[in-house]
Amino acid sequence: MEQLLQSLGQVCAIIGAQWGDEGKGKVIDVLAEHYDIIARAVGGANAGHTILVDGKKFVFHLLPSGLLHSKTQNIIGAGTVVHAQDLLTEMSELQEQGIKLEGRLFLSHQAHILLNAHRTADAALEERRGDAKIGTTKRGIGPAMATKALRLGIRVEDLADLRSLRTKLETELKALELLFGIQTNAAEEWQQLEEAAQILKPYIADTTAMLHDRLRAGKKVLIEGAQASLLDIDHGSYPYVTSSATTTMGAIHALGLPPQAVTSVIGVVKAYATRVGEGPFATEMQPADAERVRQNGGEFGSTTGRPRRCGYLDLAAVQRSAMINGFTHINLTKLDVLDSEATIPVAVDYTDTEPQYENMNGWKESIKGETNFSSLPANARNYIEFIEKHLALPLSLIGTGQNRNEMILR
Ligand code: GDP
Ligand code: IMO
Ligand code: MG
Repeated sequence: MEQLLQSLGQVCAIIGAQWGDEGKGKVIDVLAEHYDIIARAVGGANAGHTILVDGKKFVFHLLPSGLLHSKTQNIIGAGTVVHAQDLLTEMSELQEQGIKLEGRLFLSHQAHILLNAHRTADAALEERRGDAKIGTTKRGIGPAMATKALRLGIRVEDLADLRSLRTKLETELKALELLFGIQTNAAEEWQQLEEAAQILKPYIADTTAMLHDRLRAGKKVLIEGAQASLLDIDHGSYPYVTSSATTTMGAIHALGLPPQAVTSVIGVVKAYATRVGEGPFATEMQPADAERVRQNGGEFGSTTGRPRRCGYLDLAAVQRSAMINGFTHINLTKLDVLDSEATIPVAVDYTDTEPQYENMNGWKESIKGETNFSSLPANARNYIEFIEKHLALPLSLIGTGQNRNEMILR
């Protein structure tokens, strides 16, 4: 661990390399005890980051995944869209588990407020798209990012002045009705915002200034990416993407950090591939294979419970992510899920739009919980080394199980 931490340096970003759900939450949790600040940058409650500790499951949607380590300070950055009541619910669920948030959680004054009406709009848009639907999480993310870009959005800092907040709310709701042809409920939104404004007040901060202060004091920062590179609004498979910039650059932009502040970027790569929602997926498995991997990998959405589509590892796509994000390290996750596979196809290139596969031999034995690289079966080591060579990046962390300690470090 010491050697790895040395090579990661002061500011490390954790970024999904595929279509999300690679296991970002787990690696954040594994590294968090060695960092002072965990900063969630973009997205909203469309994210679901799962952590398993001693058989107990925690799913983080908007709260940073470093909160389980009591010494960390945790930031929700300016690029996020926050449903205030849902944030309160997520906060109280953690507090009920004895986790303290006062003085440890900081919500950017620049983050945007996501209203119930954004959710109604998300559902209405999806409905209207019919067969061309995106398959969103219906968490209202697209419409909230849209009103932000239209400069109609309410920011967290607006919660401080209830009188102008009321006017802003009415203006935004009227716009949402016109734009999306939906009905809204101003009284309900107001009641929820007023309550949230009271409770959230102590947590609101200028998180950019805070980050720069802490960095000057030599503190270490772990940036928690959400969603993933292939879901990026620009670099992903548009329009089957989310509505924010999910790359390293998106994260540092949202946190107000300059590029040179980042000392390392860990690309999180699942040992196979999954995708939730619609959109192209060239390496998607045949239904029977997908079902087996889905069951073995527990591939059901942490946010929506939807069965995730399963496919083979697409190294050509991961390589593109590595290039765009500037990965310096890779965390390969869920290698244990492939334990029972006889052969494991890996896409290495494309001819026109057809993936070209290299067929790797499976290892056909359990590697669950393995923490030592040299104890892995030869074919598992081959699989790792093949990926490492292809990406020309070190696979420094390798997940062998859901639990916090089920990880090989090298
Ligand atoms: P995230 O959104 O990237 O944080 O990923 P999710 O939490 O949505 O999905 C990843 C799932 O895989 C979670 O249920 C994790 O507990 C689980 N997981 C993470 N790493 C491993 C691993 O190495 N092996 C296994 N079997 N499960 C893992
Ligand atoms: P984490 O952080 C996987 C997908 C949705 C849909 C598309 C657009 O847990 O990896 P949205 O609700 O954002 O408008 O949906 O993006 N999506 C995710 N898929 N993991 C996520 O987050 C996702 N966040 C959004 O399924 O295809
Ligand atoms: Mg997830």
